[in-house]
Amino acid sequence: MFYIGIDLGTSAVKLLLMDSDGKIVNIVSKEYPLYFPQPGWSEQNPQDWYEATVLGIKELIRDVDKSQVAGISFGGQMHGLVILDEDDNVIRPAILWNDGRTGAETEYLNRVIGKEKLSAYTANIAFAGFTAPKLLWVKDKEPENFAKIAKIMLPKDYIAYKLTGVHCTDVSDASGMLLFDVKNRQWSKEMCDICGIQVSQLAKCYESYEAVGTLLPQAAQELGVPASVKVAAGAGDNAAAAVGTGTVGDNMCNISLGTSGTIFISSKQFGVDSHNALHSFAHADGSYHLMGCMLSAASCNKWWMDEIIGTKDYATEQQSIQKLGENHVYFLPYLMGERSPHNNPDARAVFLGMSMDTTRADMTQAVLEGVAFALRDSLEVAKSLGIRLERTKICGGGARSPLWKKIVANVLNLKVDVPESEEGPSMGGAMLAAVACGEYKSVEEAAERIVKVVETVEPEPELAARYEERYQYFKEIYPACKPLFHA
Ligand code: XUL
Repeated sequence: MFYIGIDLGTSAVKLLLMDSDGKIVNIVSKEYPLYFPQPGWSEQNPQDWYEATVLGIKELIRDVDKSQVAGISFGGQMHGLVILDEDDNVIRPAILWNDGRTGAETEYLNRVIGKEKLSAYTANIAFAGFTAPKLLWVKDKEPENFAKIAKIMLPKDYIAYKLTGVHCTDVSDASGMLLFDVKNRQWSKEMCDICGIQVSQLAKCYESYEAVGTLLPQAAQELGVPASVKVAAGAGDNAAAAVGTGTVGDNMCNISLGTSGTIFISSKQFGVDSHNALHSFAHADGSYHLMGCMLSAASCNKWWMDEIIGTKDYATEQQSIQKLGENHVYFLPYLMGERSPHNNPDARAVFLGMSMDTTRADMTQAVLEGVAFALRDSLEVAKSLGIRLERTKICGGGARSPLWKKIVANVLNLKVDVPESEEGPSMGGAMLAAVACGEYKSVEEAAERIVKVVETVEPEPELAARYEERYQYFKEIYPACKPLFHA
């Protein structure tokens, strides 16, 4: 049988076809536009997602026996607000996870409602990218749109809804809405009251590996697959990536170097850090996880390469980098503000420390290092909770760079296990579909049987020590700049 994993990303939808043995049969990617209508805003059109997904699926399965397609599931960009009216029309463009417009609403939730209450209701505090502050923004700034809302959903759930007609979500993605009682895996009535919505406007919430239904006849016909194809709820892209890299069970770690950068720590136990600097979310394997999320990771490198120095040849550019651990240039990677651990939508990127002998390679290196240092900030929070990690998996576009993996291994002083495929969320999506169809008994079993590590990048003690010194300096830069960001 075949299983389709849909990674509904920010720059493109990535689709992966997996067979019953967990072998990747085909991969297809389709881009769509991302709009920044005002500085700090970030929007997409849900119809673009759906059209790209349908085109992508058709291409993905063009050369296989379509009658053998058994299941579809997702990893989706998290936190985005998609609102539908009673005729199922999208009311306004989706407001995405990296949108920073909700500074005032976030402040209101954290200060006026109070972090203690938010944490008690949801296990999290408000961050500008989360869904609840976006609802408050629509309520305040676009009351005519707010009044029309019949259904509230997350990005991947819009695709599931179009395919199955079921208004559904899953526990991992629901966790990032600030409307979900993570510990008890159910909607928070208190948070719905605070946001002025009814629980009935929210989706039915499933475990990630549960089937929500089968394809609508017209969707099956359009894709050319049987209407019996099961659609599983799927997961937020980070939980799906964790499944795809085998980061399931207790105390496992995955780092994703995608548009965003995340450090994801799985846990059998529910837990919250005292400052809520890390997100405490439900995991797609039925348990929980902690996660630090930086808003710009591989996108910093893409911005630096494409927009500033004007090259598409990332590998050649990185070849001239020789002086690891000795760079005098530092980069704060906050191009879209920052989530973890600073929670500051006004933060911005900074280069620091250039002199007349600074080269283009030093600055490229600083960008890669800045992202690694910022991930280390979240790792430090995890360490302060007593979490001890020796190794991590890695995935995402940035994981294709051997140099970046080496920098990450040494800055975080972790062994980096590289899975056979860096396609985290789409692989995880396909695996969740296979579990929903009964191909594997559990997510853990699927991960054990499917995920293979092909290489381990070990930290080198001398280099890790040099990076330790550099990190101590890096840590000073954000607090020094913070008052300037505010101005
Ligand atoms: C996680 C987050 C990002 C998006 C990227 O909290 O906001 O990783 O899910 O797609």
